[in-house]
This record gives sequence, structure tokens and C-alpha cells, in this order.
Amino acid sequence: MKVVIPAAGLGTRFLPATKSQPKEMLPVLDRPIIQYVVEEAVASGADDILIVTGRGKRALEDHFDHSPEFDSSGKYPELEHLAELVRHARIHFVRQREPRGLADAIGLARQHTGSEPFGVLLGDTINVCEPPLLRQLWDRYEKLQATVMAVEQVAAEKVHDYGIVEGKEESPGVFRCERLLEKPDPSETRSRLGITGAYVFTPDIYSAIDRTRPDARGELQITDALQVLTADEPVYATTFQGTRYDIGDRFLWLRANLEFAYGVPEHRARLRPILERLLEESSDSVRPHGSPRSRRTHRQKRGHAE
Ligand code: UTP
Repeated sequence: MKVVIPAAGLGTRFLPATKSQPKEMLPVLDRPIIQYVVEEAVASGADDILIVTGRGKRALEDHFDHSPEFDSSGKYPELEHLAELVRHARIHFVRQREPRGLADAIGLARQHTGSEPFGVLLGDTINVCEPPLLRQLWDRYEKLQATVMAVEQVAAEKVHDYGIVEGKEESPGVFRCERLLEKPDPSETRSRLGITGAYVFTPDIYSAIDRTRPDARGELQITDALQVLTADEPVYATTFQGTRYDIGDRFLWLRANLEFAYGVPEHRARLRPILERLLEESSDSVRPHGSPRSRRTHRQKRGHAE
């Protein structure tokens, strides 16, 4: 299976952290986000991965490259899993010259995927699902022989942040798409099915991208390309079991760190008293977000030496 991972966005929601480093390299617990995404692709059966990068994203290539200073056999067991991933899948890179939208980024995979169907996972989103989300989509693709994307129910006040699918439910949780809207006003649609950023495409998506008009900001949106594709062939959306962390959103990045750390017994034991203390103190006056000064104040309050 070929999988494309767009990772060329600017990450403006995470400034200043992303001013000079790719958001896909921000760590969650002990590894960069992009590694989780590649792990999901490999666990789903990918043997060939194309990562779409851009200016300032060299660290992504370096992460999956051979590094003589670290690769000396067995010295760094922490790297063994990464080495295993690279053994399972060939990882390629293509550059998007400017971040001109997700459809533009996916369109760059045309030469690479050719006439085959292919999966897409976003470089800034971790899906925690069993079976892995892309595997679930691929199985669905094999039954339907049609483009299929993951969707979830979103709250009305979040509709304007999502691509929204309107469609007919053909079997439980599986919708044949009739209309797709990019970030609509909630009053424009009664649907609350939001596109989450995992897809399996037929190669026909490329000609649909060619016929898609850029939005008001000059970007090519994949939701609009999918709307074009629905006129040519059936397109499906499916709900899924699992949790999705859009790490481009700084709160969800924080949540992922906390939840992942809490899943490790050793960390959980150390985290619990900290969380309990924070909850106990939550009625205290508002402090600047976790500044070292505010942490000192907590410690001083409890009589710790600095
Ligand atoms: P996002 O819209 O979440 O990423 O795109 P962004 O543009 O970096 O985010 P903000 O709004 O500025 O914070 C989802 C995924 O698609 C990639 C991004 O890197 C991200 O992984 N993407 C987006 C591209 O590869 N190229 C683009 O032109 C746009």
C-alpha cells in the first residue's frame, strides 16, 4: 500500500514553536508527531510512504535518514523502533514549493502513486484506533472500490472548522457523499459529519484536483476536489472507533502529551500527585501559563528549597 503524508503546512496555529521548526517534529511524549503518523501507516500495511515537505522542513527528512552518530549497532535501543519502521517501508519525500492547500499537496503525489489507489494521513494528526484507522479505511475501500474518508460527528460550533459531508447512510456509519462543504457556517448545512483527515483515494482524485478552483485565499482544498469527484464516481465517508489528536491545535497537543504519559505506568505514578495538586490549587488566582516563576511560587508555598 502506498501512503502520502502531507506535512508542508506552515503551522501558524502553533507559533512561535513552529517559527523555525516543523510542527510535525514537535514531540508527543518521546517521539515526534510524524513518527506516530508513519507508525500508523506501517501498522496499516504501508510499504511505501511519500512525505510532502516544504521550506524549513529538512528535519523531517533527517529524522528518517541514516545517522552515523546514532546508528552504531545497539547503542541506542530507543532508536530500534524507528529503524524497524524504516526497514518496513521505503520513505520518499517531495517538496511543495508553497503551502497552497491540502489538495495541492496531495496532487504532488501523482507521479509517485500513478494509477494505484493510495492512502493519505495528515502529518500533524495522531489517530489512536484499533485496528489502525488507515487499515479500517483500506478494508472499506476494498469492499466499495471507491474513495473513502474518515468522518466524525462534530459540535455545531465546530462545523466552521471542518470540511463537512452531507450524504445518505447506506450501511451503519457508512455514508455515500452527496455534497461536501469546506468550513461552512453551521446554518448552511444540517450535517455534523466532519472530515478528520484520513483518506483512501482512487487515482481519479488527481483529475478532480485539476478541475478544482482555489478558494478565496488561493488554496486548493481537498474537500472541494472531493465535491468535484462526487460528480464523476461514488465517494464514501465512514465513521470510526478511536481517538484523533490534531496536534496542530496546541491544546490537543497538550492533551495528547498528558494522555499518552498517563498511559505509561511509570509516568502515571509521578503525574498523579502533580495533577492532584494542580486541581486542588485550581481555585488560586490565574497565573501566566505555567511560567517558571509560577512553578517556583507553588514550590515555595510548600516550603521546598529552590
Ligand atoms: P493544516 O491546515 O492543519 O496545517 O493542514 P497548517 O496549514 O500547517 O496549519 P495552520 O492552520 O497554519 O496551523 C493539515 C496537514 O496538511 C499539511 C499540513 O502540514 C498538515 O500536516 N498541508 C497543509 C500541506 O502539506 N500543504 C498545505 O498547503 C497545507
